[in-house]
Amino acid sequence: MISRSRHNFEEASDITPPPADDYIAPAPRISVQAFCETVATATTARAASEDRRLAKAHLSVHMGGIEAAIENYHTAPTPNVIVLETSGSGDFLAGLDELATVCDAGTRVVVIGNEVAPYRELVRRGVSDYVIGPVQVLDVVRSICGLFSASEAIAVGRMIAVAGAKGGVGASTVAHNVAWAISRDLGLDSVVIDLDLAFGTASLDYNQDPAQGIANAIFQQERPDSAFMERLLAKCTDHLSLLAAPASLDQVYDFGADAFDAIFDTMRMTTPCIVLDVPHQWTAWTRRALVGADDILIVAEPDLANMRNAKNMMSILKTARPNDRPPLYCLNQVGMTKRPEIEVRAFAKTIESQPIATIPFDSRMFGTAANNGQMIAELSANHRTAKKFLQIAQRMTGHADTSKQRGSLLAPILKKLRAGRSR
Ligand SMILES: Nc1ncnc2c1ncn2[C@@H]1O[C@H](COP(=O)(O)OP(=O)(O)OP(=O)(O)O)[C@@H](O)[C@H]1O
Ligand SMILES: [Mg+2]
Repeated sequence: MISRSRHNFEEASDITPPPADDYIAPAPRISVQAFCETVATATTARAASEDRRLAKAHLSVHMGGIEAAIENYHTAPTPNVIVLETSGSGDFLAGLDELATVCDAGTRVVVIGNEVAPYRELVRRGVSDYVIGPVQVLDVVRSICGLFSASEAIAVGRMIAVAGAKGGVGASTVAHNVAWAISRDLGLDSVVIDLDLAFGTASLDYNQDPAQGIANAIFQQERPDSAFMERLLAKCTDHLSLLAAPASLDQVYDFGADAFDAIFDTMRMTTPCIVLDVPHQWTAWTRRALVGADDILIVAEPDLANMRNAKNMMSILKTARPNDRPPLYCLNQVGMTKRPEIEVRAFAKTIESQPIATIPFDSRMFGTAANNGQMIAELSANHRTAKKFLQIAQRMTGHADTSKQRGSLLAPILKKLRAGRSR
C-alpha cells in the first residue's frame, strides 16, 4: 500500500460545488412544534430537528395535524413556529381561523401539504411559508431557517472550516492561502478566524501585528455585536480581514462546546465568507466548529496516520451532518524527497473519495512565504501551487474566478471606457 508517490496527482472532478446561493442560515434559539398527519412527514421532521442548522432550535414533533394543534394550544403556550401538515381533508382554512384564536400573535405558521387552499388564502391567514409535500429533510430545515434570515443574509455567512488530519500538515497554511484566493480572486469579503489561540500563525502569515483579536471577544462577558467584532479585525487586504489569535501562553484555553457560538453568529451576519483555521485537536468546541460549518476541508499528508485520522474524521463528520455535502479533503506536502508516501490513488480508495487538490511539497517556496509573511500567490502569482489554492477556493465556495472574468471579458470594455474618459 505504501510506495513512493508517482506524482500522478489524481484530483476529484466529480464533486459538484454547492451553488453559491444554496445557503441556509442557521436558525436562532427558537421553539418549533410540528403537527404531522403522516408518519413519513413526522420522520422527516424529526430528522430535520437533528440538522446542524437547527441545533439551537427546539423542534418537537407531534401527530394529529391541525386538530391536535388547536386542542393543544387551548391550554399550552404557543411556540415561535408551528408546522402543520395537512392532507387536504376537512376545511383547513376554517381550522387556521380557529387556530388563530388560540395562538400568540407572534407565532409563525408553516404549512406542509398538497394544494390545500389557494396560496393567497393561506397568506391572508398569516401563514408564513407553504411547502408542497412530500417534503425532504432540507425542505423543512430551509423553511424554518428561512423565517428568521433576512433576505440579504442569503449572501452572507458561509463558513468554511479547515482542519488538519494531523498536527503540522499545513492546515493553517492551506486555510490562509485559500482565504486569500477567495477574497482576491473570487471577490468575496472574507474573514479568517484563527482558532489556535495559543500557537496560531495567521497574523505571522499575513504579516499583521494586531493589538486585538479573538481573545478579546471570547473572554468578555457580554455577547459581542457586529460593531465590537469589527474593531477586533485586522485588515489584511481590501477584501480580507483577520480575527487573530493572541498566540500568548499567559492563560490556558479550555473552552466549553458553545464558547464560540456568539462570535460565529455575529460574524455570519456581516461576512460573506468565514474561514476557520481549526487547530488539530478533538475537543467539544473544535468538533462543534467543524460540525456547524457549511463546508469542511481536511488537510492531510500522504502517510498512514493521516489516512487513518482523515478517514475517522470524514466518517464521524458525515454521520453528524447527514444533510450536507461530505467533508472535502486535500493532500499537502506531497512528493517530499526520500519520504515513503502513500499513493494518492490508494489514499483516495481508503477515504472513499478523491482529494480536491494535491499540493506538492516545496520547502523553499513555503519556507520563504512563511518567513516573509506572504501568501504563495504574492510570491509567485502564476505558480502551479497558487492555482491549486484558487481551485480549492472555487470548489469550497462554488464561486467562479471573478478576477479572470474581469480580465478576459470586461477588460477590453473597461480599457475603452478609460481611454474615452481620458481623451
Ligand atoms: N506544501 C508544503 N510544502 C512545504 N512546506 C509546507 C507546505 N505546506 C505547509 N508547509 C509548512 O509546514 C509547516 C506547518 O504548516 P502549518 O502551520 O500550516 O501546519 P498546521 O497543520 O496548521 O500545524 P498545526 O498543527 O501546528 O496547526 C509550516 O512551516 C509551513 O510553511
Ligand atoms: Mg495550524
